[in-house]
Amino acid sequence: MAVTFVPKESAAGETRVAAVPETVKGMVKLGLTIEVERGAGAAAGFSDADYEAEGAKLVGPEARGTADMVLGIQPPTPELCKQQKVGSMLICTLMPMVELPMVQALCDAKVTAVGLEFMPRITRAQKMDILSSQATCGGYQAVLLAAVHLPQMFPLMMTAAGTLKPARVLVLGAGVAGLQAISTARKLGAVVEANDIRPAVKEQVESLGAKFVDTGTPPQAETTGGYATETSEEFARKQREILTEHINQSDVVITTALVPGKKAPVLVTTDMRKNMKPGSVIVDMAAAAGGNVEGTVAGERKVVDGVTIIGDTNLPAQVAGDSSRTYARNVLAFLGEFVEEGEPKVDLEGEILGAVAIVHDGTVRHEPTAQALAAHNNG
Ligand code: NAI
Repeated sequence: MAVTFVPKESAAGETRVAAVPETVKGMVKLGLTIEVERGAGAAAGFSDADYEAEGAKLVGPEARGTADMVLGIQPPTPELCKQQKVGSMLICTLMPMVELPMVQALCDAKVTAVGLEFMPRITRAQKMDILSSQATCGGYQAVLLAAVHLPQMFPLMMTAAGTLKPARVLVLGAGVAGLQAISTARKLGAVVEANDIRPAVKEQVESLGAKFVDTGTPPQAETTGGYATETSEEFARKQREILTEHINQSDVVITTALVPGKKAPVLVTTDMRKNMKPGSVIVDMAAAAGGNVEGTVAGERKVVDGVTIIGDTNLPAQVAGDSSRTYARNVLAFLGEFVEEGEPKVDLEGEILGAVAIVHDGTVRHEPTAQALAAHNNG
């Protein structure tokens, strides 16, 4: 019966937890022994007693050192990695390219480290897809943040004091987060427009009751994995030209555009932002990847020329209960892939484990990370 440890997250501002009482029950059914650090779920609304009731043992942070599997949300520090026993597993969001000392520590400790963000986007793995589950929570929260910062209400209202116009919301990038933002803004009664460069998106946007702002499709807009590719400067300039008028008319702009492995594309320049009405709100969900809006500062909220720009980098943590619940369900589904009778059976030839296992037995299995680590270690 492999011992599985659920820590209290130590990264600043991280309120989520990688297992919730409901998934502890499921993990126990898989035959695992579950140890939960005291207080691990407190910030997300899950009490120690609730975990215990589902069969978890409450432990201190030192339990990391004896566990066979460690679950998590954020990449752990190198010091925490060193505590894990040889041959144990780590399952979390790894971000290996930006956490090279952690990767080295995982190699040294001979830990099998799984980066859940590398989950293949195939139908079978949808229930294990943390990028989608967390983007859904983030897209929802982005709209709520915009709503509380906007000095007007979202819906059209006919009151005795006259009619109030609905807020106009523009969503740039309509992947998982953007579609959820559209849906949430529509439910609050806003008039919503959205733009994306992938051709499949128009229909999805319209089915949610929003208007699609067509800025054209660049050649090879999409990779075989369904992700967007980087556009040419010429395309980006034309796109910004068309978007300018829509941005001017918007009360809220929510940007979510990402290109995997690249800096986020700039969709709103300073000049475009300067034309926005005072009191307008921008939520730049791409802030951590460099931002879609010129001048966004990751992790900061500021008012520039009367426009509020929100660069929060961990929106899912602001709705930690449901973010944790969905993340934990993704983790449980993933464990169901390879845990048999309470023991992990690691087959790196498998379609799913083969893709997400980034470090195994002292070796980095993700080529870009291996190269970056070699360069890092050579000074
Ligand atoms: P993402 O987070 O990488 O990007 C967000 C959005 O930004 C995307 O829709 C992208 O097209 C858009 N974007 C990028 N550059 C842009 C630009 N210059 N201008 C405007 N928009 C731009 O994408 P996400 O949300 O992770 O989804 C990517 C794709 O994967 C989608 O097609 C989604 O439907 C698909 N998907 C498939 C799953 C599965 O089959 N298991 C699960 C989840 C998503």
